[in-house]
Amino acid sequence: LELQMNIEEIEKGGYDHFMMKEIYEQPRAILDTYRGRLLADQKLIKMAGIDEHLDKFLNANRIIIVACGTSWHAGLVAEYIFEDLARIPVEVEYASEFRYRNPVITDKDVLIAISQSGETADTLAAIKLAKENGAFVFGVCNVVGSSIARETNAGAYTHAGPEIGVASTKAFTTQITVLSLIALKLAQEKGSLTDARFSEFLTELENIPTKVEIALQSNEAIEKIAAVYKDSPNCLYLGRGYNFPVALEGALKLKEISYIHAEGYPAAEMKHGPIALIDESMPVIVIATNRGHYEKVVSNIQEIKSRKGKIIAIVTEGDVQVRALADHVIEVPDTLEALTPLLTTIPLQLLSYHIALMRGCNVDQPRNLAKSVTVE
Ligand code: G6P
Repeated sequence: LELQMNIEEIEKGGYDHFMMKEIYEQPRAILDTYRGRLLADQKLIKMAGIDEHLDKFLNANRIIIVACGTSWHAGLVAEYIFEDLARIPVEVEYASEFRYRNPVITDKDVLIAISQSGETADTLAAIKLAKENGAFVFGVCNVVGSSIARETNAGAYTHAGPEIGVASTKAFTTQITVLSLIALKLAQEKGSLTDARFSEFLTELENIPTKVEIALQSNEAIEKIAAVYKDSPNCLYLGRGYNFPVALEGALKLKEISYIHAEGYPAAEMKHGPIALIDESMPVIVIATNRGHYEKVVSNIQEIKSRKGKIIAIVTEGDVQVRALADHVIEVPDTLEALTPLLTTIPLQLLSYHIALMRGCNVDQPRNLAKSVTVE
């Protein structure tokens, strides 16, 4: 018996595509990212890059986050986490806009640059500009020794391992993991969270890899949903609060690899435009987990339903209210609201993957896109 496997097949570890492999690596990648940093039994978060520059963070007037693409979406999630838990004002900027709009930057600003590759030209330029203006610059990169990792004053790596698929998956969830750790650490230092709440967060963050495993078990059900909507020309993604950036990321994933036009919107903005698009041929993916704005999202779902839109809802395990209204529901385990993006992202990645595959697209190397964009 001759075993014929080329190097690429070996690298794909038994999966048909890198993207699928990387989606399934998330429980491990998230664990690797908080390992040695999250010390729940000691009620401690240990991150050298933060510990050594704690004063910069604690004395900062604000944090400016710069990034591009999926990393920018992780930045948006981080804005909610930092403001909610650590009570530090945050602005999130597209690096390409920030660098060219003569922004106000002072030595009381901390700039966090998020980049999987650590090579994105616009993000690198934004870092240089911030440094010239005296800001302290912190990097969240995946690639060790990358240009951004070297250019920043300090940083924390995500430990996602190599990401080959052009559409970012495990980089996104590990970025959110690192940023959550930073926010929690600062919250503890500032006393903006009670001890009990802080401990609850550490325990819940530790449970996330197991919960991602559970979320991944919906894969077959998601494949069936993908078959129903694979020929749709458009798709709308709605989410609120912590899950608004997830809606943006879900839409980006779909457009990147399936070439379906997709838009993400904050659910409450639907009435200011996108609702005009809704008819019986419009699939609307709604993130409707149980914590935070649930009732409001339910009323958005009712509005979609009364206009005959097709509803695919991401809900918390055991949900009944949305199930009664939606055409399809995909369950994720319950967790603290601030950590829901780590779970609600998973079904959206899988949905994009299956739709792209059914449309015959090259999921790992979509047309016109590059894994790392080193030109502006
Ligand atoms: C490209 C990739 C995206 C990525 C973005 C930012 O557009 O295709 O997946 O999110 O660049 O890349 P970075 O390496 O800076 O996170």
